[in-house]
Amino acid sequence: MNPSQKKTDRVKILLVDDLKDNLLALEGVLRRDDIEILKAQSGTEALEFMVLHELALAFIDVKMPGMSGFELAELMRGTKRTKNIPIIFVTATAIEQRFSFKGYESGAVDFLLKPLDTFAVKSKVNIFIEQYLQKKELKKIQGELELAVAIRDEFMSIASHELKTPLTSLKLETQVRKRNLRKGDPLAFTMERLTKMFDADEKQLNQITHLIDDMLDITRISSGKLVLNLESFDLCELARDLVERSSEQLGAAGCPIKIDVCQSVVGHWDRFRIEQVVMNLLTNAMRYGRDKPILVQVNESKIGAQIVVRDQGMGIAKENHERIFQRFERAVSGSEISGLGLGLYIVRQILEAHHGSIRVESTLGQGSTFIVELPHGL
Ligand SMILES: Nc1ncnc2c1ncn2[C@@H]1O[C@H](COP(=O)(O)OP(=O)(O)OP(=O)(O)O)[C@@H](O)[C@H]1O
Ligand SMILES: [Mg+2]
Repeated sequence: MNPSQKKTDRVKILLVDDLKDNLLALEGVLRRDDIEILKAQSGTEALEFMVLHELALAFIDVKMPGMSGFELAELMRGTKRTKNIPIIFVTATAIEQRFSFKGYESGAVDFLLKPLDTFAVKSKVNIFIEQYLQKKELKKIQGELELAVAIRDEFMSIASHELKTPLTSLKLETQVRKRNLRKGDPLAFTMERLTKMFDADEKQLNQITHLIDDMLDITRISSGKLVLNLESFDLCELARDLVERSSEQLGAAGCPIKIDVCQSVVGHWDRFRIEQVVMNLLTNAMRYGRDKPILVQVNESKIGAQIVVRDQGMGIAKENHERIFQRFERAVSGSEISGLGLGLYIVRQILEAHHGSIRVESTLGQGSTFIVELPHGL
């Protein structure tokens, strides 16, 4: 057998004939690496095979004691699982063919006259196998398309909801300000209040921009257009810088942060994308960290650099450890904590593009540790 041809990939053909010698002769003609041949010596035995196996074709001798080939085909027509199996009837005379079985659902019925001509048998079987494989491929594509449409619909609904939240709050704020302007209320527009307003607006706008950026990244990733702009830089410096820049956010989230970063690890990476990785992990640690301390570590490793982000928050159950790295997958409900479920998916894609990896160690209720391995450079 071709080593790349897995047993499960083989197309199954059922031969039905009451005479063992005929079965063996036909098997000899049809034997191929990509075909698995099943042999039945009666209609009843054939039906049993049909229940157990997905068949590409049934080769049925018309004249059999007990259940004839046509009777077997009648029975096959009556069941959903068997009614579309193509049949090649083997007949002794052309007359038999004239009385042939009519109205078979799929229309995939053909006849071969005894004595069998090896060339005719092989070419007919080839055609049936070809059709079977095409149908199977179409079914697979149809399934993938249906899944893609379902994912898109779900995404649209989550994304619209997530975009609507900051937009609604901006809209409400605008209405309040307009009312205050109409009333000519000077106290509503003191320097202090204006500063607060702009800060709040900026926060909402940042959230919207962030969401749109994530959506664009997803499109880039699925179309294979995530391009890396590589440069040499120090990851330790980047981590220190990011933590400093996030100090306000960390303060607002109530999460004290400890940073334990080695002197320097230089590599050849995409600075913007690696920033995105660290920021996503940090944002998650704040979002799911329940106001507890967060630890950020960067160290030199055997292959390059290791980044560790540890929180003491809600943790993640073991069965979700892999799932959360997939698109739109979350381990919390949207009503509990909002989010699109895209962050970790994007993080993993960025790291894989750098030939790196990410994994999580966590127990529900006991915090989470995300570990990133990043080779020195491409
Ligand atoms: N530090 C963490 N502690 C506990 N759960 C986490 C943590 N980080 C991620 N998760 C779980 O993994 C899920 C996926 O995280 P991911 O960052 O991909 O999406 P998100 O945070 O829900 O939304 P966003 O797209 O805004 O990042 C989260 O919804 C959460 O259930
Ligand atoms: Mg996230």
